[in-house]
Amino acid sequence: MRLPGLLCLAVLAASSFSEVQEEEITPEVSIAYEVLEVFPKSRRVLITCHAPQAPPPVTYSLCGTKNIKVAEKVVKTHEPTSFSLNITLKSSPDLLTYFCRAASTSGAHVDSARLQMYWELWSKPLSELRANFALWDRGSGPRVEVSCQVSSGSPPITYSLVGKDGQVHLRQRPRHGEPANFSFLPSQTSDWFQCQAENNISVQHSALTLVPPGELPEAAAIVLAGSLASIAAVTSGMLGWTLWTRS
Ligand SMILES: *[C@@H]1O[C@H](CO)[C@@H](O)[C@H](O)[C@H]1NC(C)=O
Ligand SMILES: *[C@@H]1O[C@H](CO)[C@@H](O)[C@H](O)[C@H]1NC(C)=O
Ligand SMILES: *[C@@H]1O[C@H](CO)[C@@H](O)[C@H](O)[C@H]1NC(C)=O
Repeated sequence: MRLPGLLCLAVLAASSFSEVQEEEITPEVSIAYEVLEVFPKSRRVLITCHAPQAPPPVTYSLCGTKNIKVAEKVVKTHEPTSFSLNITLKSSPDLLTYFCRAASTSGAHVDSARLQMYWELWSKPLSELRANFALWDRGSGPRVEVSCQVSSGSPPITYSLVGKDGQVHLRQRPRHGEPANFSFLPSQTSDWFQCQAENNISVQHSALTLVPPGELPEAAAIVLAGSLASIAAVTSGMLGWTLWTRS
């Protein structure tokens, strides 16, 4: 036997808030989400429901597959409400569809759009960002060349060259599996840079690397941080400089 109280029946009944209000307002419920934590086979997700025009108290229900009510909260203000859920990986996107229902005391209710969480749950977070910083002089003056790549993660992956102040200087979205390459003129003073990789479920940063001002012996390249080991050295504030001669 099914208990009607446990179901968010998808009956498109003619009841809505506009009928219980004098003004002609069409209330809307928004649904938004955020992935809070990534576990090997599950994700902790925060789903936020908001019906700003609904007269409080508003009963928000979060409904899942087959319109089953997953959680419920009563809000006595016009504020939004959030539900934190642990969602396990499922084989079908139908099983990962949610919507919010906002109900007033009169029993009138309105539903949000359907939120399908398929993409986030199937996508993989980024791992192991490697960044190589090198200062080159190929005859036309020194240039800093940075190459960044993650070992895994779902596309699309956007790479950015970020300054110490958080400012994004360059941005690139290479084809999947390829590194991003940034090339720029060194400034008059030394500067700290890091590489950032981002897909839409995670962000990774390389260690901040000090790029020295652009005076170099002709035909030489200085490898600033060419391996994970030297990146570790950079983190502790030491730069293992190697002088390379162009062959
Ligand atoms: C969610 O699942 C993870 C891993 O299975 C667990 O560590 C965590 O405590 C769970 N959180 C909640 C709120 O149930
Ligand atoms: C960066 O350089 C590597 C090696 O030269 C190359 O394979 C890759 O395609 C370049 N990436 C971009 C986005 O051009
Ligand atoms: C993440 O990227 C995929 C593929 O481009 C896109 O379909 C999806 O809407 C994005 N999700 C978010 C939360 O930005």
